[in-house]
Amino acid sequence: MSAIILDGKLIAAEIQNEIAEEVAEFIQNDGAAPCLAAVLVGENPASEVYVRNKQRACGRVGIESQLHRLADDASLDDLLTLIGKLNRDNNVHGILVQLPLPRGIEEKRILDAVHPLKDVDCFHPENVGLMVQGRARYLPCTPHGVQQILHRSGITVAGRRVVIVGRSDIVGKPMANLLLQRDGATGPDGVNATVTVCHSRTADLPSVTRQADILIVAIGRAKFITAEMVKPGAAVIDVGMNRDADGLCGDVDFASVREVAGCLTPVPRGVGPLTVAMLLRNTLAAAMAQLP
Ligand code: GUN
Repeated sequence: MSAIILDGKLIAAEIQNEIAEEVAEFIQNDGAAPCLAAVLVGENPASEVYVRNKQRACGRVGIESQLHRLADDASLDDLLTLIGKLNRDNNVHGILVQLPLPRGIEEKRILDAVHPLKDVDCFHPENVGLMVQGRARYLPCTPHGVQQILHRSGITVAGRRVVIVGRSDIVGKPMANLLLQRDGATGPDGVNATVTVCHSRTADLPSVTRQADILIVAIGRAKFITAEMVKPGAAVIDVGMNRDADGLCGDVDFASVREVAGCLTPVPRGVGPLTVAMLLRNTLAAAMAQLP
């Protein structure tokens, strides 16, 4: 039997409509539109696309956006000076530094410099700490997006076995933390999972992934997860975004896994649009948090 394909673009559009209404209400009550400042360093073609998508999405929901470009050879100090300026600018509510940064610039130094109230990516250690303790200020965009896909597709998380493949600071680690909380943005049924995190040193990976009721994959390796690694009927969420000979593809071998999974996110039109929608949600929350 073939898996149900979860349409991330459709779910994200539904969320964007909700956010657009909330933004309109915010502007009516409080005056100024929320504003997101994106920082783009160098000329990474994928980053150019991501930032353009994020700015377009801002426009669709009534959020203002700015783009600050720095050359590939910008120094750490150049970048810190720009972040400092944006931190002090009362018209800017959210700051997004598009990753990856060019080699030689220590990402943590930059991300730590973003004011925690403007940290709409939820990368600052203060915001990560609050999230881990179950009192989040902002939710990390991609993990929250995955939570929303599960929730809006009627997939219960509580009590189920979730296996996450990948332990990055952007997806794997925060994803695990969100899903093992007692409560969250999608209610207690959307969290309370039994969570396992796999990585490059995991022994016998297929034996672990095959135990997953919900399998979330974020490793950046094209078509890595094949049908033999998936329990029949499992929900499979593919966070990967790779380019191979056939074009864009995820970390999941879509053609084989769709024959065993119960439901599956495609790439593109899967998790990506949700990441953008959750960024908009955080930017509105940031504007609310910074009302004078
Ligand atoms: N690069 C890949 N994913 C992300 C993300 O969620 N936020 C930022 N700022 N950069 C990224």
